[in-house]
Amino acid sequence: MASTLFRTKKVEQSILDTEEPEHALKKSLSALDLTVFGVGVIIGTGIFVLTGTVAKNNAGPAVALAFVAAAVACALAALCYAEFASTVPVAGSAYTFSYASLGELPAWVIGWDLVLEFALGTAVVAVGWSGYIRSLMDNVGWHLPDSLGGRDGAHGFGFDILAAALVLVLTAILVFGMKLSARVTQVVVAIKVTVVLIVIVAGAFFITSDNYHPFIPKSQPVAAGGNLKAPLIELIFGWAPSNFGVMGIFTAASVVFFAFIGFDIVATAAEETKNPQRDMPRGIIGSLVICTVLYVAVSLVVTGMEKYTRLSVDAPLADAFKAVGHPWFAGVISFGAAVGLTTVCMILLLGQTRVFFAMSRDGLLPRFFSHVHPKFRTPYRPTILLGVIIAVIAGFTSLSALADLVNIGTLFAFVVVAIGVLVLRRTRPDLPRAFRTPFVPVIPVLSVCASLWLMLNLPAETWIRFGVWMVIGFVVYFLYSRHSSRLAAEGAAAADGEAS
Ligand code: ALA
Repeated sequence: MASTLFRTKKVEQSILDTEEPEHALKKSLSALDLTVFGVGVIIGTGIFVLTGTVAKNNAGPAVALAFVAAAVACALAALCYAEFASTVPVAGSAYTFSYASLGELPAWVIGWDLVLEFALGTAVVAVGWSGYIRSLMDNVGWHLPDSLGGRDGAHGFGFDILAAALVLVLTAILVFGMKLSARVTQVVVAIKVTVVLIVIVAGAFFITSDNYHPFIPKSQPVAAGGNLKAPLIELIFGWAPSNFGVMGIFTAASVVFFAFIGFDIVATAAEETKNPQRDMPRGIIGSLVICTVLYVAVSLVVTGMEKYTRLSVDAPLADAFKAVGHPWFAGVISFGAAVGLTTVCMILLLGQTRVFFAMSRDGLLPRFFSHVHPKFRTPYRPTILLGVIIAVIAGFTSLSALADLVNIGTLFAFVVVAIGVLVLRRTRPDLPRAFRTPFVPVIPVLSVCASLWLMLNLPAETWIRFGVWMVIGFVVYFLYSRHSSRLAAEGAAAADGEAS
């Protein structure tokens, strides 16, 4: 049994699968498309919303250091991701990589985990988008009834109709084809980056150095009773739950990590890339570097403009400009944020459908979902199914807990990918690798440690929720996927051949 759980799909087979016409995606993306694609999904709710929350609650002005800590973990993971993506240029990201290196059960685990990450990530961003749109609507005097404005503001029934509508519209765009969505992405990314640059350049004129004192606020104990909300690491070591101080920076890092999610999704588009061997590492690392520089600059500017204790948690970037008496800038920033969040949402949704597609092509999920549209050549069936489910989730759920769950899932994927690099170097040293992770095994080992460290800084309740989702995944695997997998069918055919 152990041998079937760890049966691997040959890398060559993964590449061949993408060439079956019925299951093939169109190859149309370049390195620039990938970088734009990366920046398009990376800059989003993390910088536009979470910066204010964590500065106020966990780190003060040192939120800039939290971004650096999260960026280091991501850079280590990116170096591993890039090697995998250039070796196994097939749709499905960490899922495909682990199928080729670690075996079917780990691949299932990671695929199941990524479905959670992308689906909830899409929902989180859609809800954040809806908040910005409502704030813009309020400016011109239009108000939605509370019950249609999302869970947070509603008493009793609440359905975030804008968030759900956004997800459905984006689903339709994805069904109609990759090229259209890539073009839309480029325009939107330009608007989003411009708005971020406006915050940095214009905001720099309003920095008051007093606001940086203290840069790392003193550690403060939190009220008793919030144990499940405390980072797991504090519970493990029996430390009293606290905010701020040096540990507060790591708590903040595990939250703002959300702001970097997306560079890994670039890897899910490997199969649609013209020259994945060369373009994939460039796209992943390029987009990560650009975003890190922007995030650190934005957080320094915003915490310099307004005392961290007074920052808003809903629209901190825009509200910092209101605080210094420039509401016009605030309006432009809100508009840019709303436009920018659209692409984030779209690309998360795209990554999600591609993982689902890859899993169904391998028979771990029903093969029905792996047929591409005869005309648009897109995996329209999983796109529509998941789009509708996510629209419902986005309509009915509130933001904060979901974001932590997305982070833990993604960090877990990073751990598996880093281990996968080590395993594949050993088991398949012969494979051509357009990009090789430097200093193996040091970088993958550091990547595992950094990701685990951030995971440990997430609340205990997030670990419990993640555990429940994974247990459901094991049940589905053992009751369905293990028997229906393509590798299982091939194994059975081979055994029959030997018997006769
Ligand atoms: N990194 C993306 C965001 O911050 C997911 O919204």
